[in-house]
Amino acid sequence: MSATVFETLMMRVAMLDRVADRIVTIELEPVHGDQLPQWESGSHLDVHLRTGLVRQYSLSLAPTSGRWRLGVLEEIDGRGGSKHVHQVLSIGDEIAVSKPRNTFPFKLRGNPVIFVAGGIGITPILSMAIEAQAGGADWALLYLSRAPESTAFVAELAGYGDRIHHHYDSVDGIIDLARALDDLGGRAADIYACGPPGLLTALEAYAASRGGCRLILERFTAGEDTGPRAGDSEFIVELADGMEVLVGATETILEALEHEGVPLLSSCQEGVCGTCETAVISGIPDHRDQVLSDEERAGGEMMMPCVSRCFGARICLDL
Ligand code: FES
Repeated sequence: MSATVFETLMMRVAMLDRVADRIVTIELEPVHGDQLPQWESGSHLDVHLRTGLVRQYSLSLAPTSGRWRLGVLEEIDGRGGSKHVHQVLSIGDEIAVSKPRNTFPFKLRGNPVIFVAGGIGITPILSMAIEAQAGGADWALLYLSRAPESTAFVAELAGYGDRIHHHYDSVDGIIDLARALDDLGGRAADIYACGPPGLLTALEAYAASRGGCRLILERFTAGEDTGPRAGDSEFIVELADGMEVLVGATETILEALEHEGVPLLSSCQEGVCGTCETAVISGIPDHRDQVLSDEERAGGEMMMPCVSRCFGARICLDL
Protein backbone atom coordinates (compact mmCIF):
# COMPACT_ATOMS: atom_id res chain seq x y z
CA MET A 1 0.00 0.00 0.00
CA SER A 2 1.28 3.46 -0.79
CA ALA A 3 2.05 5.74 2.14
CA THR A 4 -0.41 8.28 0.83
CA VAL A 5 -3.43 6.05 1.28
CA PHE A 6 -3.02 4.87 4.87
CA GLU A 7 -6.40 4.77 6.50
CA THR A 8 -6.68 6.55 9.81
CA LEU A 9 -9.07 6.05 12.69
CA MET A 10 -10.22 8.78 15.06
CA MET A 11 -9.47 7.76 18.62
CA ARG A 12 -10.00 9.43 21.97
CA VAL A 13 -7.51 9.38 24.83
CA ALA A 14 -9.42 7.41 27.44
CA MET A 15 -6.64 7.05 29.98
CA LEU A 16 -3.24 8.60 30.49
CA ASP A 17 -1.11 7.28 33.35
CA ARG A 18 2.43 7.97 34.46
CA VAL A 19 3.78 4.46 35.04
CA ALA A 20 7.49 5.22 35.58
CA ASP A 21 9.97 8.07 35.44
CA ARG A 22 9.43 9.77 32.01
CA ILE A 23 7.04 7.03 30.84
CA VAL A 24 3.30 7.35 30.36
CA THR A 25 0.79 4.87 29.03
CA ILE A 26 -2.16 6.00 26.95
CA GLU A 27 -5.31 4.03 26.30
CA LEU A 28 -7.25 4.88 23.18
CA GLU A 29 -10.90 4.27 22.42
CA PRO A 30 -12.68 4.78 19.11
CA VAL A 31 -14.43 8.15 18.94
CA HIS A 32 -17.37 6.73 17.05
CA GLY A 33 -17.62 3.49 19.03
CA ASP A 34 -16.39 1.43 16.08
CA GLN A 35 -14.98 -2.03 16.60
CA LEU A 36 -11.19 -1.93 16.74
CA PRO A 37 -9.38 -3.75 13.94
CA GLN A 38 -7.58 -6.94 14.86
CA TRP A 39 -3.83 -6.78 15.38
CA GLU A 40 -0.87 -9.02 16.22
CA SER A 41 1.66 -8.71 19.01
CA GLY A 42 4.60 -6.54 18.01
CA SER A 43 2.35 -4.11 16.13
CA HIS A 44 2.53 -0.34 16.33
CA LEU A 45 0.31 2.60 15.44
CA ASP A 46 1.27 5.70 13.48
CA VAL A 47 -0.07 8.38 15.79
CA HIS A 48 -0.85 11.77 14.22
CA LEU A 49 -0.19 14.00 17.22
CA ARG A 50 -0.79 17.19 15.26
CA THR A 51 -0.24 18.36 11.71
CA GLY A 52 3.11 17.13 10.49
CA LEU A 53 3.92 15.26 13.70
CA VAL A 54 3.50 11.51 13.25
CA ARG A 55 5.12 9.04 15.60
CA GLN A 56 5.08 5.27 16.00
CA TYR A 57 4.18 3.74 19.32
CA SER A 58 3.85 0.03 19.98
CA LEU A 59 0.74 -1.59 21.37
CA SER A 60 1.54 -3.09 24.73
CA LEU A 61 -1.35 -5.34 25.67
CA ALA A 62 -2.51 -8.70 24.37
CA PRO A 63 -4.11 -8.55 20.91
CA THR A 64 -7.07 -10.38 22.45
CA SER A 65 -7.57 -7.71 25.13
CA GLY A 66 -9.78 -5.52 22.96
CA ARG A 67 -7.84 -2.50 24.25
CA TRP A 68 -5.24 -0.28 22.63
CA ARG A 69 -2.57 0.85 25.06
CA LEU A 70 0.63 2.64 24.10
CA GLY A 71 3.73 3.32 26.19
CA VAL A 72 5.65 6.55 25.53
CA LEU A 73 9.04 7.60 26.91
CA GLU A 74 9.69 11.34 27.05
CA GLU A 75 12.86 11.82 25.04
CA ILE A 76 14.66 14.86 26.36
CA ASP A 77 16.60 15.40 23.13
CA GLY A 78 13.85 14.11 20.84
CA ARG A 79 12.20 15.91 17.94
CA GLY A 80 9.02 16.80 19.80
CA GLY A 81 6.71 13.80 19.50
CA SER A 82 7.17 12.38 22.96
CA LYS A 83 7.19 15.86 24.52
CA HIS A 84 3.84 16.50 22.88
CA VAL A 85 2.47 13.30 24.39
CA HIS A 86 3.82 14.09 27.84
CA GLN A 87 3.15 17.82 27.98
CA VAL A 88 0.16 18.50 25.73
CA LEU A 89 -1.96 15.40 25.29
CA SER A 90 -4.83 15.02 27.78
CA ILE A 91 -7.64 12.63 28.53
CA GLY A 92 -10.51 13.32 26.12
CA ASP A 93 -8.28 14.57 23.29
CA GLU A 94 -9.05 13.13 19.88
CA ILE A 95 -6.22 11.99 17.62
CA ALA A 96 -5.95 10.17 14.32
CA VAL A 97 -4.05 6.90 14.25
CA SER A 98 -3.29 4.35 11.58
CA LYS A 99 -4.56 0.83 11.77
CA PRO A 100 -2.03 -1.37 13.59
CA ARG A 101 1.01 -2.19 11.46
CA ASN A 102 3.49 -4.90 12.24
CA THR A 103 7.15 -4.65 11.30
CA PHE A 104 8.15 -6.86 14.25
CA PRO A 105 6.04 -10.02 13.93
CA PHE A 106 6.17 -12.67 16.60
CA LYS A 107 5.84 -16.36 15.82
CA LEU A 108 6.05 -19.32 18.16
CA ARG A 109 8.08 -21.99 16.35
CA GLY A 110 8.50 -24.51 19.15
CA ASN A 111 11.91 -23.15 20.19
CA PRO A 112 12.55 -21.54 23.57
CA VAL A 113 12.02 -17.80 23.33
CA ILE A 114 14.09 -15.10 25.00
CA PHE A 115 12.78 -11.56 24.95
CA VAL A 116 15.27 -8.75 25.46
CA ALA A 117 13.86 -5.30 26.20
CA GLY A 118 15.94 -2.16 26.63
CA GLY A 119 14.02 0.63 28.36
CA ILE A 120 10.85 1.59 26.50
CA GLY A 121 11.57 -1.30 24.14
CA ILE A 122 9.43 -3.26 26.58
CA THR A 123 6.22 -2.06 24.88
CA PRO A 124 6.09 -4.48 21.90
CA ILE A 125 7.86 -7.15 23.92
CA LEU A 126 5.15 -7.13 26.58
CA SER A 127 2.44 -8.06 24.08
CA MET A 128 4.67 -10.87 22.78
CA ALA A 129 5.37 -12.18 26.27
CA ILE A 130 1.64 -12.34 26.97
CA GLU A 131 1.17 -14.31 23.75
CA ALA A 132 4.09 -16.63 24.53
CA GLN A 133 2.59 -17.38 27.93
CA ALA A 134 -0.84 -18.04 26.44
CA GLY A 135 0.73 -20.33 23.85
CA GLY A 136 2.48 -22.43 26.49
CA ALA A 137 5.96 -21.46 25.26
CA ASP A 138 9.20 -21.87 27.16
CA TRP A 139 10.14 -18.21 27.47
CA ALA A 140 12.07 -15.69 29.54
CA LEU A 141 12.45 -11.92 29.51
CA LEU A 142 15.67 -10.02 30.08
CA TYR A 143 14.57 -6.46 30.84
CA LEU A 144 17.32 -3.86 30.95
CA SER A 145 16.64 -0.43 32.38
CA ARG A 146 18.43 2.44 34.03
CA ALA A 147 16.86 2.12 37.46
CA PRO A 148 13.81 0.61 39.14
CA GLU A 149 11.99 3.95 39.01
CA SER A 150 12.42 4.17 35.23
CA THR A 151 11.05 0.67 34.62
CA ALA A 152 7.51 0.35 33.28
CA PHE A 153 5.01 -2.50 33.72
CA VAL A 154 6.82 -3.99 36.72
CA ALA A 155 3.64 -5.06 38.49
CA GLU A 156 2.21 -6.69 35.34
CA LEU A 157 5.41 -8.59 34.73
CA ALA A 158 5.68 -9.76 38.33
CA GLY A 159 2.83 -12.17 37.61
CA TYR A 160 5.20 -14.19 35.39
CA GLY A 161 7.52 -14.98 38.31
CA ASP A 162 11.00 -16.20 37.54
CA ARG A 163 10.57 -15.87 33.79
CA ILE A 164 11.33 -12.15 34.32
CA HIS A 165 14.95 -11.05 34.78
CA HIS A 166 15.44 -7.37 35.55
CA HIS A 167 18.80 -5.69 35.20
CA TYR A 168 19.15 -2.11 36.47
CA ASP A 169 22.29 -0.33 35.28
CA SER A 170 22.34 1.98 38.31
CA VAL A 171 22.12 -0.95 40.71
CA ASP A 172 23.72 -3.90 38.95
CA GLY A 173 26.34 -2.13 36.83
CA ILE A 174 27.11 -2.94 33.21
CA ILE A 175 25.60 -6.22 32.16
CA ASP A 176 27.61 -9.10 30.72
CA LEU A 177 25.04 -9.62 28.00
CA ALA A 178 26.54 -12.77 26.47
CA ARG A 179 26.73 -14.45 29.82
CA ALA A 180 23.20 -13.42 30.78
CA LEU A 181 21.87 -14.80 27.51
CA ASP A 182 23.85 -18.01 27.77
CA ASP A 183 22.46 -18.51 31.28
CA LEU A 184 18.93 -18.17 29.89
CA GLY A 185 19.59 -20.67 27.10
CA GLY A 186 20.19 -18.07 24.40
CA ARG A 187 22.42 -20.35 22.30
CA ALA A 188 19.41 -22.28 21.03
CA ALA A 189 16.60 -19.75 21.39
CA ASP A 190 14.56 -17.42 19.24
CA ILE A 191 15.60 -14.01 20.60
CA TYR A 192 13.21 -11.10 20.11
CA ALA A 193 14.67 -7.75 21.08
CA CYS A 194 13.68 -4.10 21.09
CA GLY A 195 15.80 -1.34 22.50
CA PRO A 196 18.50 1.23 21.78
CA PRO A 197 21.04 0.74 18.98
CA GLY A 198 23.92 -0.26 21.27
CA LEU A 199 21.91 -3.10 22.75
CA LEU A 200 20.85 -4.38 19.34
CA THR A 201 24.41 -4.22 18.03
CA ALA A 202 25.58 -6.25 21.02
CA LEU A 203 22.84 -8.79 20.34
CA GLU A 204 23.90 -9.08 16.71
CA ALA A 205 27.43 -9.82 17.89
CA TYR A 206 26.06 -12.43 20.29
CA ALA A 207 24.00 -14.11 17.58
CA ALA A 208 26.99 -14.15 15.23
CA SER A 209 29.08 -15.88 17.86
CA ARG A 210 26.43 -18.48 18.80
CA GLY A 211 25.34 -20.34 15.71
CA GLY A 212 22.12 -21.86 17.06
CA CYS A 213 20.01 -18.85 17.92
CA ARG A 214 17.72 -16.77 15.76
CA LEU A 215 17.59 -13.01 16.31
CA ILE A 216 14.58 -10.81 15.49
CA LEU A 217 15.03 -7.09 16.15
CA GLU A 218 12.92 -3.94 16.33
CA ARG A 219 14.99 -0.77 16.00
CA PHE A 220 14.33 2.66 17.49
CA THR A 221 16.81 4.46 15.27
CA ALA A 222 18.72 3.70 12.12
CA GLY A 223 22.19 2.31 11.84
CA GLU A 224 24.83 4.18 9.89
CA ASP A 225 24.05 2.81 6.45
CA THR A 226 21.11 5.03 5.45
CA GLY A 227 20.56 8.17 3.42
CA PRO A 228 22.75 9.70 0.72
CA ARG A 229 26.37 8.52 0.57
CA ALA A 230 29.48 9.79 -1.11
CA GLY A 231 29.31 8.68 -4.71
CA ASP A 232 25.50 8.73 -4.98
CA SER A 233 24.12 10.21 -8.20
CA GLU A 234 21.05 12.25 -9.03
CA PHE A 235 18.07 10.51 -10.57
CA ILE A 236 14.47 11.15 -11.59
CA VAL A 237 11.41 10.07 -9.63
CA GLU A 238 8.36 9.82 -11.80
CA LEU A 239 4.99 9.98 -10.07
CA ALA A 240 1.86 8.09 -11.06
CA ASP A 241 0.45 11.16 -12.85
CA GLY A 242 3.62 11.56 -14.90
CA MET A 243 5.14 14.42 -12.90
CA GLU A 244 8.94 14.18 -12.68
CA VAL A 245 11.04 15.21 -9.69
CA LEU A 246 14.82 15.42 -9.80
CA VAL A 247 16.48 13.92 -6.71
CA GLY A 248 19.93 15.44 -6.17
CA ALA A 249 22.94 13.39 -5.18
CA THR A 250 22.90 14.69 -1.61
CA GLU A 251 19.17 14.73 -0.93
CA THR A 252 16.62 12.01 -0.29
CA ILE A 253 13.54 11.28 -2.38
CA LEU A 254 11.44 12.51 0.53
CA GLU A 255 13.28 15.84 0.62
CA ALA A 256 13.03 16.28 -3.15
CA LEU A 257 9.29 15.56 -3.06
CA GLU A 258 8.80 18.02 -0.21
CA HIS A 259 10.60 20.74 -2.19
CA GLU A 260 8.13 20.17 -5.00
CA GLY A 261 5.13 20.17 -2.66
CA VAL A 262 4.37 16.49 -3.15
CA PRO A 263 2.89 15.16 0.12
CA LEU A 264 4.32 11.98 1.56
CA LEU A 265 3.61 10.86 5.10
CA SER A 266 6.81 10.31 7.09
CA SER A 267 7.96 10.01 10.65
CA CYS A 268 11.43 8.71 11.54
CA GLN A 269 13.02 9.79 8.24
CA GLU A 270 15.69 7.22 9.01
CA GLY A 271 14.26 4.14 7.34
CA VAL A 272 13.18 2.37 10.50
CA CYS A 273 9.47 3.04 11.00
CA GLY A 274 7.82 2.15 7.69
CA THR A 275 5.53 5.21 7.63
CA CYS A 276 6.71 6.41 4.22
CA GLU A 277 6.40 2.97 2.58
CA THR A 278 5.55 3.52 -1.07
CA ALA A 279 4.74 1.20 -3.95
CA VAL A 280 7.19 1.02 -6.85
CA ILE A 281 5.62 1.02 -10.31
CA SER A 282 8.85 0.58 -12.26
CA GLY A 283 12.59 0.87 -11.68
CA ILE A 284 14.92 -0.85 -9.24
CA PRO A 285 15.04 0.45 -5.67
CA ASP A 286 18.36 0.76 -3.85
CA HIS A 287 17.00 -0.21 -0.43
CA ARG A 288 18.60 1.46 2.59
CA ASP A 289 15.86 1.02 5.15
CA GLN A 290 15.65 -1.40 8.02
CA VAL A 291 11.98 -2.23 7.65
CA LEU A 292 11.67 -4.49 4.62
CA SER A 293 12.64 -8.14 4.79
CA ASP A 294 15.19 -9.59 2.36
CA GLU A 295 12.29 -11.14 0.47
CA GLU A 296 10.46 -7.83 0.20
CA ARG A 297 13.64 -6.11 -0.97
CA ALA A 298 14.20 -8.71 -3.62
CA GLY A 299 10.57 -8.30 -4.75
CA GLY A 300 11.23 -4.60 -5.38
CA GLU A 301 7.55 -3.70 -5.05
CA MET A 302 7.83 -1.35 -2.08
CA MET A 303 10.43 1.11 -0.83
CA MET A 304 11.07 3.73 1.86
CA PRO A 305 11.71 7.06 0.08
CA CYS A 306 13.04 8.72 3.24
CA VAL A 307 16.34 6.85 2.79
CA SER A 308 16.22 4.53 -0.22
CA ARG A 309 17.24 5.56 -3.72
CA CYS A 310 17.28 3.79 -7.07
CA PHE A 311 19.67 1.94 -9.30
CA GLY A 312 19.82 3.67 -12.67
CA ALA A 313 18.52 7.04 -13.75
CA ARG A 314 14.81 6.74 -13.02
CA ILE A 315 12.22 5.15 -10.77
CA CYS A 316 8.44 5.44 -10.94
CA LEU A 317 6.52 5.51 -7.66
CA ASP A 318 2.83 5.13 -6.91
CA LEU A 319 2.39 8.65 -5.57
FE1 FES B 1 10.21 6.11 8.73
FE2 FES B 1 10.53 6.45 6.11
S1 FES B 1 9.69 7.84 7.52
S2 FES B 1 10.82 4.64 7.22
